[in-house]
Amino acid sequence: MLVVEHIHEMQKWSEEQRLQGRRIVLVPTMGFLHQGHLSLIREGRKSGDRLVVSVFVNPTQFGPCEDIASYPSDFERDRGLLEREEVDIIFRPSSRAVYPEGYQTAVEVERLGRTLCGAYRPGHFRGVAVVVLKLFNIVQPHVAVFGLKDYQQFIIVSRLIEDLNLNINMVAVPIVRDPDGLAVSSRNYYLTQEERKAALCLQRALGRAENWVRQGERDGRKITNQVIAEITSEPLARVEYVQLCDLKSLEVIESLHDEALLALAVWFGKARLIDNIILKAEM
Ligand code: PAF
Repeated sequence: MLVVEHIHEMQKWSEEQRLQGRRIVLVPTMGFLHQGHLSLIREGRKSGDRLVVSVFVNPTQFGPCEDIASYPSDFERDRGLLEREEVDIIFRPSSRAVYPEGYQTAVEVERLGRTLCGAYRPGHFRGVAVVVLKLFNIVQPHVAVFGLKDYQQFIIVSRLIEDLNLNINMVAVPIVRDPDGLAVSSRNYYLTQEERKAALCLQRALGRAENWVRQGERDGRKITNQVIAEITSEPLARVEYVQLCDLKSLEVIESLHDEALLALAVWFGKARLIDNIILKAEM
């Protein structure tokens, strides 16, 4: 396994692989890898011949008051995990290399980037779109793998690929949960023991929403209000949003007809956790 830090070196490697007819798979990450990342890597492995994992904590997707300074990292641990997964390359550029002096270009997936998390993290998805497009240009993958825990990110990158005619296939990987039901996330690291226990209310509330739908509930507002009530009965939880929305446009929906995304962001202490479930009218 190679660790590549220089952009031109990464591009050269990818060009050579492409010339040899190899299919390149990219798994973009911000490091501090967990089971969720490993499931992306294992899924990615099935879609190509060469596997590249990028490890880059992208400064442009963090707001001025957000957690970039404390974002957890442990590169030696990540390297060990990726070695065991038989990844071909870790691409680990510096911030300076990705955003050199004078950098000023932005790319924005407009409406999709302003709803859900985008409404509370202005500029976040612009930063994601920029870095993902840059990674695509540098690594030149045939396939890119994203997890569905950040469903909005998956939809935004899919839109970016389509709108800019990029020749890349997206692979979506389901949410990975710890045995107690909490969706795995690097930010779970911020949780105290008490907060972690409290955070189990998220999966519980989503599961209850699924049951209400099974029992015939179709009213979007009632479903989200019941989920909010369930979560706020947990004193350590601070709800940022709970929304029922269309699977593609991410627009809020009033009533559930076939399928919809129930997405939420909730704070527990310093940790802002996101989670979601797809609700189906016919279950
Ligand atoms: O999902 C993430 O970890 C990041 O948003 C990504 C896609 C690696 C871009 O920085």
